Amino acid sequence: MSILEYVSLQPYNTFGLDATAHYFCRVQSKSDIQYLIEDEWQYYRQHLIIGGGSNLLFCSNVDGLAIINEIVGIEIIKEDDDYVWIQCLSGTTWHDVVLYCVDRDWYGIENLSLIPGTIGAAPMQNIGAYGAELKDVFEELEAIDLRTAKSKIFSNAACEFGYRESIFKKAEKGNYFIYSVTLKLHKKPKINTAYGDIQKVISEKNILHPTAKDISDAVISIRESKLPNPKVLGNAGSFFKNPEVEKTLALQIQHSHPNLPMYELENGKVKIPAAWLIEQCGWKGKKIGNTGNHAKQALVIVNYGNASGTEIWQHAQQVQLSVNETFGIHLEPEVNVWL
Ligand code: EPU
Repeated sequence: MSILEYVSLQPYNTFGLDATAHYFCRVQSKSDIQYLIEDEWQYYRQHLIIGGGSNLLFCSNVDGLAIINEIVGIEIIKEDDDYVWIQCLSGTTWHDVVLYCVDRDWYGIENLSLIPGTIGAAPMQNIGAYGAELKDVFEELEAIDLRTAKSKIFSNAACEFGYRESIFKKAEKGNYFIYSVTLKLHKKPKINTAYGDIQKVISEKNILHPTAKDISDAVISIRESKLPNPKVLGNAGSFFKNPEVEKTLALQIQHSHPNLPMYELENGKVKIPAAWLIEQCGWKGKKIGNTGNHAKQALVIVNYGNASGTEIWQHAQQVQLSVNETFGIHLEPEVNVWL
């Protein structure tokens, strides 16, 4: 493993931003990362572990070591009549894991098709889409402690998953390198077509008993119709999380905006789509300089080609400010901002 100097990170982030890493390396095995932690870590002021770079906004260079995770592989570790357990090494592309499962007709992650990034990043924010979340199929993960280079197993409960949340964004932030993730998939059909247009797409194709592959194909076509392909138009998916607000505030907003979409939560609060709030404030499809909000999904902020990370971040803050002034709701970024 060699450590290079002054490497552009443009190919390693889906916004396509040309940040520079003062030092740069690729890890391809557990011993690579353990070597880095034991023998190199202390010499760098900053450390940034990059998986797919699909949730990362560079507003400055990396004045330290950027580490690209290329530890890949999928292995079946156990199965019975109903379930199969697969262990995926953390640098494996998430969608490759989805394809591996749908090709074998295993159920559980087909609704999460085409989410960019690696499986190692998936537990960080408990990725979710179309009525499914990683935590529903997550068995455990192996992480390497960045302070000691020792391995530790985290069960589903130990990860403290929430909506786009886990212990790795809170109490254990910056403390671990996720090495592998074990998923438990259903071998017998267990489908969820309730969310959005999935059922509509399946019905249009006259499919009566959809397979995991049918659902995956439907999700892919829905995503491709709304979300910009980062290879064509730089973006990091949803820029903000959908806010959870007090019911009284939601009812107050509904008074003046009867079309307010909202979902009641078990904790008594109400979730409001950030995309709706942003659209009401006039940002949908609005291009300012080299950035703006996507015309088909207001929650996605895009790089029209030459934006700097700072320009995108300033734009996001303007959006945040106007939603706050209009609705009294603070939008929390989902994207990790490297300031
Ligand atoms: N809406 C608008 N304007 C828009 C788009 C949406 O008003 O421009 C409203 C509509 O009422 C719509 C609702 O927002 O029904 C929800 O929209 P959508 O189904 O597109 O989902 P979302 O809440 O914007 C979330 C995830 C996405 C995931 C989709 C589909 C978050 C922050 N985002 O978006 O995840 O793909 O649901 O399940 O929870 C990501 O995390 O990067 C991501 C793309």
